[in-house]
Amino acid sequence: MDSICILAIESSCDETAASVCCDGVILSNSIATQSIHEQYGGVVPELASRAHMQNIVPVVDIALAEAFKTLSNTERLAKISAIAFTQAPGLIGSLLVGAQFSKSLALALNKPLIAVHHMQAHVLANLIGNDKPDFPFLCLTVSGGHTQIVLATSPLNLTILGETIDDAAGEAFDKSAKLLGLPYPGGPLIDQYAKLGNPLKFGFAEPQIPNLNFSFSGLKTSVLYFLQKQTPEFILENRNDLCASIQHTIVTILLKKVKKAVVQTGVKQVCLAGGVSANSGLRNELQAMGVKHGWKTFVPSFEYCTDNAAMIAMTAFYKYQEQDFIALDSHPTARAAW
Ligand code: KG4
Ligand code: ZN
Repeated sequence: MDSICILAIESSCDETAASVCCDGVILSNSIATQSIHEQYGGVVPELASRAHMQNIVPVVDIALAEAFKTLSNTERLAKISAIAFTQAPGLIGSLLVGAQFSKSLALALNKPLIAVHHMQAHVLANLIGNDKPDFPFLCLTVSGGHTQIVLATSPLNLTILGETIDDAAGEAFDKSAKLLGLPYPGGPLIDQYAKLGNPLKFGFAEPQIPNLNFSFSGLKTSVLYFLQKQTPEFILENRNDLCASIQHTIVTILLKKVKKAVVQTGVKQVCLAGGVSANSGLRNELQAMGVKHGWKTFVPSFEYCTDNAAMIAMTAFYKYQEQDFIALDSHPTARAAW
């Protein structure tokens, strides 16, 4: 039987990425990160779209070249069974670049087109590589725009059990970091300083939300009110302890709900996904909880946690087997139901 090879493109936010996946194995994962946004303290949609336009051809070329090193360009493209792209959710101008590029390629090569939901792909990043969960599993997806607990009963059967009602976990990190005077994105910096600090030095508000939903807006306000009462010298002197305490609060909020989801579903395999799963406090505390409660825990390698096209390719690989293709006149959308 011929191999199923997917060329996938991800352009939902500020990373232009392409990947080739053959028969469920990732052969390449190329990415261009847009550093232009750092000076603005957040992603500027118009600049992101322009950067995607500049980056998309070289990024796809690299992905194809890495996957099929010894072949010519024409031979590489001939290997591709289908083109996949992120259809939603994301910044519409960014999504449009990836969608248009993918549609054009599908038309030119006469190959089927596969639309992938970015958040479902984050969950399926856990199926990349050898150490992967069996079904069913739970996944805590934590990124700059989303915070969700998902139950996966098969690759394409994913149910959201709970999600944030306001800020995402990544926003909680980034907004707290901003209040501490740290540059964007502040999440990785909080992680770095937290390693040197005392997580129990300061207490911040934990929301009392029933069910499996999350809320992080109260934490941001609690950090703001606390810092407003302090001098700049105090904040600088206590930076490590402040970062450790903020991180500990966010991780505690997340893991309490994970524990609740395990009790509710009886599913004892727990995965992480999304950019915030790079956080060392979250990874360590989840692993410790797993040991304590007898859960199996999984965290994708760093390159598959943050936005990437390998997770899009992996999801499309399963969709290809279901012949789940879309028409060339379909559109990306900024928001999309699951
Ligand atoms: O999934 P992602 O790369 O992009 C989307 O939002 O889709 O996630 C980005 C988020 C940012 O909020 C960033 O601050 C956060 O992930 N992040 C971290 C760490 N690395 C990335 N937050 C805490 N600790 C980290 N080590
Ligand atoms: Zn993402």
